[in-house]
Amino acid sequence: MEFVTLTNKVKMPMEGFGVFQVRDKEECRRSVLDAIRTGYRLIDTAASYTNEDAVGEAVRDAIAEGICTREELFITSKMWVQDMESYETAKRAIDASLEKSGLEYLDLYLLHQAMKDYFSAWRAMEDAYREGKLKAIGVSNFYPHVLTNFCETVKIRPMVNQVELHPYYTQEKALETMAYYDVVPEAWAPLGGGRYKPFENEMLKEIGAAHAKTVGQVILRWNVQRGVVVIPKSTHKERIEENFDIWDFTLSEEEMERIFSLDMGYVGTAVKHFDPEFVRMCNGRKIHD
Ligand SMILES: NC(=O)c1ccc[n+]([C@@H]2O[C@H](COP(=O)([O-])OP(=O)(O)OC[C@H]3O[C@@H](n4cnc5c(N)ncnc54)[C@H](OP(=O)(O)O)[C@@H]3O)[C@@H](O)[C@H]2O)c1
Repeated sequence: MEFVTLTNKVKMPMEGFGVFQVRDKEECRRSVLDAIRTGYRLIDTAASYTNEDAVGEAVRDAIAEGICTREELFITSKMWVQDMESYETAKRAIDASLEKSGLEYLDLYLLHQAMKDYFSAWRAMEDAYREGKLKAIGVSNFYPHVLTNFCETVKIRPMVNQVELHPYYTQEKALETMAYYDVVPEAWAPLGGGRYKPFENEMLKEIGAAHAKTVGQVILRWNVQRGVVVIPKSTHKERIEENFDIWDFTLSEEEMERIFSLDMGYVGTAVKHFDPEFVRMCNGRKIHD
């Protein structure tokens, strides 16, 4: 496992485990525990996934089993759009995430989308960071122009930006903007999120065969090799283990380039962030009363 150092000197694992759409609490708890037993130390949840409680339970189980300490774990959650109305609603959302997870602090907290009054929400995150409730703060789905304006405005710059990044949507320009502001890129849907059929791609299979690795391992490795943190999700133990086994091989420059050739640009995105319908949908989605 490798680590990346955030601007505030916090060390973040380069690979973690995502729990999007793992709605069944027991399945979530078990999968997270399987992931921690496998060696993952970063877990990625969100208020909107409604499983922060199950993640917290798995963390306590792992510590009780003596697998790791709380300090060795890196737990991420995210504030949903509904709570980005104002400073006060955002402050309550941070406390709600802490309470649901049962954790004294979160290692990273992200604004899930650049929607509603995200500047006021950010000020609440800055304060919680100063108080030690959040060890690092960041954003998600901030496209380059939004991230630039944000970084030019806020007091504490985001340390991480979690966006869609995989061989079918490589976003090289976005990574340049993140590098400019020392924002660490983190890939959601690093395996393509169940879309694009990477596992059937002959070129990816061929590169995998050359290293005795699977397609999943190849595309996760491709991202970490270009400095991107990955958080693959699976509820299957064998896949959880397979996805973590990416630290003993290196893709050549030529292989990296061949993988880049799959890029489809914005047309290949899973979520159309520039679509007003999507923005309305997020604004209307309520995760609590
Ligand atoms: N910030 C955001 O807006 C945002 C958006 C989306 C996701 N995320 C985060 O990013 C994480 C990862 O993204 P994601 O869950 O959308 O997609 P992903 O990790 O790219 O892909 C998950 C899908 O791939 C399957 N899979 C996993 N390992 C596999 C393997 N080795 N071989 C074949 N299939 C495999 C999983 O199925 P099984 O579970 O059945 O194995 C699941 O259907 C999420 O869990 C979440 O934490 C954030």
